[in-house]
Amino acid sequence: MNKTIIVSNRLPLQVKLEDSKLEIKPSIGGLATGMKSVHAEGNGIWIGWSGLTEEELTPKLKKEIKKEVTKEKCVTVPLTTEDIDNFYLGFSNKTLWPLFHYFMEYTSFESSEWESYKEVNQKFADAVLENVNDGDTVWVHDYQLLLLPKLIRDKKPNISIGFFLHIPFPSFEIFRTFPWREELLEGMLGADLIGFHTYDYERHFLSSIKRILRLDVNFNNIDYLDRTVKVDSFPMGIDYDKFYKAALANNSQLKKERTELQRRLDEHIKSASDAKIILSIDRLDYTKGIPNRLKAFEYFLNKYPQFKEKVRLILLAVPSRSNVPQYQKLKRDTDELVGRINGEFSTVSWTPIWYFYRSMPFENLIDLYTTSDIALITPVRDGMNLVAKEYVATRTNQDGVLILSEMTGASKEMNEALLINPNNFDQLADTIKQAIEMPLEEQQNRIKILQQRLERYSVEKWAEEFLKALDSTKNKEDIFISK
Ligand code: ADP
Ligand code: G6P
Repeated sequence: MNKTIIVSNRLPLQVKLEDSKLEIKPSIGGLATGMKSVHAEGNGIWIGWSGLTEEELTPKLKKEIKKEVTKEKCVTVPLTTEDIDNFYLGFSNKTLWPLFHYFMEYTSFESSEWESYKEVNQKFADAVLENVNDGDTVWVHDYQLLLLPKLIRDKKPNISIGFFLHIPFPSFEIFRTFPWREELLEGMLGADLIGFHTYDYERHFLSSIKRILRLDVNFNNIDYLDRTVKVDSFPMGIDYDKFYKAALANNSQLKKERTELQRRLDEHIKSASDAKIILSIDRLDYTKGIPNRLKAFEYFLNKYPQFKEKVRLILLAVPSRSNVPQYQKLKRDTDELVGRINGEFSTVSWTPIWYFYRSMPFENLIDLYTTSDIALITPVRDGMNLVAKEYVATRTNQDGVLILSEMTGASKEMNEALLINPNNFDQLADTIKQAIEMPLEEQQNRIKILQQRLERYSVEKWAEEFLKALDSTKNKEDIFISK
């Protein structure tokens, strides 16, 4: 039977070593959480990195990992410490991530890291070639593997290859600064179908294709060598039922055991009849606009002091890429800002910000989503942002307000949210006030429409549409060849 092979740097599970013992945890991030349910339901395999380097593993541990990941239909690609330093922390996260998110000042261009990026893409290609059979489909994901489609195509010209980018594709003026721009675009063009979250990213990509590679683009088809590469936008959804049902169970009277977190949240809600909880959840990443959010919250408390002692911001940040200097600086800045704001405003009975720097189990995420009156999501740049969608899906009474940055891919399909510019503190402060005071009927009208859309275009539907579109590119070529 033909299968679909998903390939991404990060597998849906992450292997860690605790006191020399293996610990397996779910991976955090939109790609892994989104694709997880698609993978669980399919008959394919997922190829990626385990989270541990070759140097960290003994033959016994390798065997154990293989056993664990095989249960989850996953295959690991062995990466060394040098690969992780140069390919992952280096080229992927010090070059491509900041450049594609318009952080030019954070972007470094190191040719030794580019060499490592090419080598590691080749390692992924080898792993795919070991596992692929004629008739299979390969679906490559994200910025760590932009060269992979071509590397597979060169060896297996007739395999159906899809590529999806989970982050923004920047405008031509940004992309043109990248020293290896031709090679990177040619790598992507190894795919039959290239997908983006939004039409804007698609447009930027096509503009680079025309201006850098000088290729003919016909609507969204690129003539390339003897093939046609199709480009389209597919806004990624979430596993709507999973979030909705978990929230229903959480709200149900039958739930006798309140988690510790839930009890603390209940206490705050009971502390005043008009007490409100504002929630933000992200990986600790400079693209997420966390310092802006904190400064805007401080500005809000100064501008509207009547909300002191009533409103609490919960800031949940999950550690991410903490070996990259910019992430270390962001951690220091965030700690300092939270400390300053709490120091300035706290009273005996009230702390304005609750700050958690850790990942949380699914059950606690649902506690937070269902208990919060407002979700405050303020990235300065974000390919999609699934947290915004997850919050909406858990509002089973259709109450709650979503404040969402217009710099996220999600904002393109979530017009009923309160859309803001994360750099405009005045607007943010006023929008927080508007959210706190929004009549229930208006909240419900907005959330209802958002939920209907999310339910219709779930992550399963998203994957189905992408694979259908990929399949149709293959059929077209088959017809062409048989003529
Ligand atoms: P990104 O892909 O940039 O990390 P998204 O908002 O698209 O951003 O996806 C983040 C995913 O990670 C969501 O599915 C969210 O539920 C999950 N997540 C974020 N923070 C945490 C946390 N502290 N604990 C557990 N899961 C988290
Ligand atoms: C974003 C990226 C993913 C990445 C995730 C977590 O969602 O698009 O490719 O896996 O962040 O980052 P990490 O570096 O831990 O894999």
